[in-house]
Amino acid sequence: MQNRVAIVGGGYVGLTTAAIFANAGITTHMVDIDEKKIEVVKGGKSYFYEAGLDQLVASGLKKGTLLPTTSYEDAIPEADIVISCVGTPDNPDGSPNLKYIYDAARATAKLAKSQLIFVQKSTVPVGTGDALGEVFKNEFPELEVSYVSNPEFLRESSAIADTLFGDRVVVGGDCAQAVTQVVALYKVMDTHKKEIAATAAITTGAKEDAHEVKVVETSLKSAELIKVTANAFLALKISFANSIAKLADEAHADINEVMDGVGLDNRIGRAFLNAGRGYGGGCFPKDVSGLISVANDHGVDLHIMGAATEVNASMPGYIVNLAKEKAGSLEGKKVAVLGLAFKAGTSDARKSPAVAVANSLAHEKAEVRAYDPYANEEAGPDLNRTVSLVDTLDEATKDAELVFIATDWPEFKELDYSKLDNGSVKFVVDCMNALEPEKITKNGIGYLGVGRGKS
Ligand code: UGA
Repeated sequence: MQNRVAIVGGGYVGLTTAAIFANAGITTHMVDIDEKKIEVVKGGKSYFYEAGLDQLVASGLKKGTLLPTTSYEDAIPEADIVISCVGTPDNPDGSPNLKYIYDAARATAKLAKSQLIFVQKSTVPVGTGDALGEVFKNEFPELEVSYVSNPEFLRESSAIADTLFGDRVVVGGDCAQAVTQVVALYKVMDTHKKEIAATAAITTGAKEDAHEVKVVETSLKSAELIKVTANAFLALKISFANSIAKLADEAHADINEVMDGVGLDNRIGRAFLNAGRGYGGGCFPKDVSGLISVANDHGVDLHIMGAATEVNASMPGYIVNLAKEKAGSLEGKKVAVLGLAFKAGTSDARKSPAVAVANSLAHEKAEVRAYDPYANEEAGPDLNRTVSLVDTLDEATKDAELVFIATDWPEFKELDYSKLDNGSVKFVVDCMNALEPEKITKNGIGYLGVGRGKS
């Protein structure tokens, strides 16, 4: 008989995983204590924007395999495998706050079957599995828990494709049988991946056709460390590219050309070497600070990651300064900020560098109007109160002298900036190097990118 799964925590990772497993025919409860979120999901939709997820939620409900609930009592007693996907926000000192991790583990243990496979998908510091093992042993001695680490590598905005066609599935644990049962879930998913992609209307090509699930089995602690190390390395690549971009600006080189040339080296690769306003979101900033913090606990100074963090934090101000050099002063200037999400394809504006760009402009006393097609609501609370949040691109760009492309949504790439508001725009600041400069300059508008030679 197939294992029944309960997913605890219905966020980006939890809901995507639950919807995909349910569409693979696996009976999947999804518990989240937030009634509003569960109501939306029960209604057949995701409560955040992620392409294809609405379709998978609706189809999972229709099949009867996706079972959203606010009640642990509904979900846990029958589950063979419980997958923890709760959030791990950071503390003010940068260390990870594991309250939800411990709460979810205890709430599960109170109701679980006597033999439980507990899978940790949330990003946790190395050693958390051992610490939770002690909690289970000391507080729930009647339970036999096999603890497995199965870190998540999906990206927001391509979450479904990343799950179905990911580079690897990492499963680490000390109980071989439990590891095998978790791997089996992914094998079931793998046999259904094409039909799930079709339900989600995800476009697939030759790469996806040739895809085979690659399982990496490791020790518990290695699995825990793989996840944060991967995110930290990607963050490092971005900050490295941004450091070289600053040099390219001074030396009149073009960072895109530089990284295209560098990235062709197979040992390096081109991905995550795009310079711009830096990284944000719910993962990189907190995973980097969490890794620094756990390294400190072990007496290891990861100053390379401290440097990456500093470079990242400097980028929004650096770009605004470039614009200030070009415009003379920004005070009183009408500026449109297009894009507030931490990246295109998501409504997520957590720790968004695009918001930091808008706030830095407000600090320079520019008259800022900001617009994002999906992230206005989430970005609103983090914006400086002098920034006007508007509902349309036209409102944002009305009379604007400067336009900042702060998140590279496709609709901003395709705009003809010379036609905006009868030609009020004097120059476009391309905070993610997403535009082709010639398309802007041929119409007599100035172009400013990041690391493209301070033209
Ligand atoms: C990241 C990882 O890529 C996933 O593998 C991981 O599963 C996830 O965190 C997580 O830990 O849950 P995500 O935060 O969704 O995924 O977003 P990314 O696509 O990695 O982008 C992160 C940030 O880096 C964005 O702000 C993006 O604009 C920025 N970025 C990315 C750059 O500035 N330059 C680049 O070249 C690439």
